[in-house]
Amino acid sequence: MAPPSQLPSHEEKSADAAVDLGIPVVDLGVLVNGAPEERSRAIRDLGRACEDWGFFMVTNHGVPEALREAFMDACKELFSLPLEEKKEYMRAKPMDPIRVGTGFYSLVDDIPCRRDYLKMFSHPDFHCPPKPTNLREIAMEYSTCTRGLLLELTKAISESLGLAGDRLSEALNLESCFQILVANNYPACERPGEEALGFSAHSDHGLLTLLFQNGVNGLQVKHNGQWLLAEPLPGSFFVIAGDQLEIVTNGKYKGVLHRAVVGGEKSRMSFVSLIGPCMDTVVEPLPEMATEGRGLEFRGIRYRDYMEMQQSNSINEKTALDIVR
Ligand code: SIN
Ligand code: FE2
Repeated sequence: MAPPSQLPSHEEKSADAAVDLGIPVVDLGVLVNGAPEERSRAIRDLGRACEDWGFFMVTNHGVPEALREAFMDACKELFSLPLEEKKEYMRAKPMDPIRVGTGFYSLVDDIPCRRDYLKMFSHPDFHCPPKPTNLREIAMEYSTCTRGLLLELTKAISESLGLAGDRLSEALNLESCFQILVANNYPACERPGEEALGFSAHSDHGLLTLLFQNGVNGLQVKHNGQWLLAEPLPGSFFVIAGDQLEIVTNGKYKGVLHRAVVGGEKSRMSFVSLIGPCMDTVVEPLPEMATEGRGLEFRGIRYRDYMEMQQSNSINEKTALDIVR
C-alpha cells in the first residue's frame, strides 16, 4: 500500500515517453509470421520482457481499431445509464459474473481512489448486462478477438522458456481459460492540483492482461523499484504479466506491480481483457522450472481460490501471491 508520501509526483506523471523509458515492444506479426531467425530473436526479446519487466507493448496485434472504439463507446454508454439500470449489478459480489461499481471511492492509507467500473466474465461462459443493447455483440467479439491474441502470446511465452508452444496452455487448461473484460472510468479531478489514485498498486490475479486506454495516460508500472508512467505507441496494447505467470514459471517471470493515477483535467478510461487458467485448475510451478539449488517456490492453488482471495481482500500490492509462497 502506498503511504501518502508515495503519491505520484508531478515528475512521475509527466515522465518521458514509454519507448524512451525502454518499455519493451513485441511485434506480434513477427512472432506469428516472421522468418525463423527473426522469430527466434522476437521470442528471446519477449522472454527478456517477461523476466525483466513483466510488462510490454504489443504492436501488429490484429485487433481492429474500430472494434476497440466500439467497445469503448458501448462501455461509456453503460457508465452514463441511470443508476436504476445498473443497480442489480452494483449489489454483486467479487466473484459474481457481472459487477458494476459507480462512484466507487475508497481510501487506501488515506489516499482517495476513485473509479467507476464494469466487470464481466466473458469465457468460458459469456456474461453481459442487457443495456446498452449493443454491448453484448461488441463485447463478445472483443472478447474472442483479444483472447486469440492473448493465447498467441502465451504460446510464444511458452517457447521463450525453452518449452513447447503448447506447454503452458496444457498445464493451465487454457482451452477453457477464464477471461474477464473490465472497463475503468476515472473521473477528472474536481479540484485542480488535488492528487488521487485511480487504482492502488497491485499485481493482476490472472496470467496475462491486455490493456488500452482512451488516449489519456495514467498507468504506472514499477520497474527496478521506480514507478514509471507508461505511454503507449499509437494503436498498441499494454500487456501486463499476472500472478499465475509468476507461479507457473516458478518466479522466473514476474507479475508486475502497477497502479493508475488520476488527478488531471481529463477523465481517463482503461479497458482490460484478462485471461487466466481454467478456474478449476490447480496452478503450480512447472517441474521444468525448478532450478538447481532452488526448488519450487510456490505451492499449488486452485485458480478460483486464488482469485477469490485476491478479490475479496482489499487489493494490496502482492499480498495474495505471498500466501502461496
Ligand atoms: C488495472 O490495473 O486493472 C487498471 C489500470 C489502468 O487503469 O490503467
Ligand atoms: Fe491491474
